[in-house]
Amino acid sequence: MVTTRAGILGTGHSYPEGILTNADLATMVETSDDWITTRTGIKQRRKAAPEEYTSQFAVRAGRQAIERAGLQAEDIDLILCATVSPDQILPSTGCIIQAELGANKAAAMDLVAACSGFLYGLTLADAMIRTGQTKYALVIGAEVLTRYVDYTDRQTCVLFGDGAGAAVVGAVEGDRGILAARIRSDGRYLEQLYSPGGGTRRKPTAETLAAGDHFFKMKGNELFKVAVRSMADISREVLEEAGLSAEDVKLFIPHQANQRITDAVANKLNVESERVYSGISQHGNTSSASIPIGLDESVEAGKISPGDLVLMASFGGGVTWGGVLLRW
Ligand code: ACO
Repeated sequence: MVTTRAGILGTGHSYPEGILTNADLATMVETSDDWITTRTGIKQRRKAAPEEYTSQFAVRAGRQAIERAGLQAEDIDLILCATVSPDQILPSTGCIIQAELGANKAAAMDLVAACSGFLYGLTLADAMIRTGQTKYALVIGAEVLTRYVDYTDRQTCVLFGDGAGAAVVGAVEGDRGILAARIRSDGRYLEQLYSPGGGTRRKPTAETLAAGDHFFKMKGNELFKVAVRSMADISREVLEEAGLSAEDVKLFIPHQANQRITDAVANKLNVESERVYSGISQHGNTSSASIPIGLDESVEAGKISPGDLVLMASFGGGVTWGGVLLRW
């Protein structure tokens, strides 16, 4: 039977050149390469230069994805930019990306779902394509998180990095494409990862800046448990919906927050490490960018071939989580 589904037609990614190593951080806060490596798996992360900003990385990743999909920017009719570190409040980073790409036929907007942003975008693009409202969507996860990191807080400053990943989504035929996609959130846990200042509730003033209200605050331990549980549960949910099991999965790409979180989720799902993407040692946690970067790196490394089953799962501030299962 021929089915029309939404599938990924091309991917891309981009990073800043700047690298912040564990040794660099050990000169800034009381930490060590050994602590960071054992507790998180991170060795280094990318850090944007002061004059660089989010849409620049998003545009590079997006352009690459469009090219690899064999399309032109004018073919794109929807741009979803997932980010918690936009260029500015108004307009959306999506519109800034649209102008830079020359994707003049698209509707463009931002999605704020923290580290789940890319899977939120993929889920919405899937629905828009299947209902015929959209032909080609460009879904991007892009962050310059290092602007919101407090480099005196050793618990958070070791984790986050910058970068962008993108995917062009369009209709595919046969048994390819997105088989199941689910997104969820629970605002009761909003204080597990948040940045209290800078919006209308606590507008930016000299006092809020001095107090560091614009920086990320995190309850790492609690988030760790929620992350493992929610990513494992949503993975099982999408597998079950598609009538498949973790054994069928060729590659599992979880959000890259901590290698111990990745290992715990993979262990719960019985997916051995050879079938799990891991980029955390080189990139740290790039929030909404981590999954599309992982996808593109896996494509470039030849780890995904046509017909392979790819499972992606995420969790993030909100809290939000999501799962997408697709046949490449
Ligand atoms: N270097 C050295 N010691 C540290 C550091 C550091 N960088 N950070 C914390 N410690 C200390 C703590 O102060 C504590 O010391 P104490 O025992 O004297 O009190 C000790 O190490 C243990 O701290 P824990 O918080 O229990 O360490 P844990 O093993 O849980 O690791 C971590 C902390 C890495 C933050 C972990 O909990 C984690 O990864 N949580 C998930 C965080 C996450 O994923 N956040 C992003 C969400 S995604 C998004 O939306 C962006």
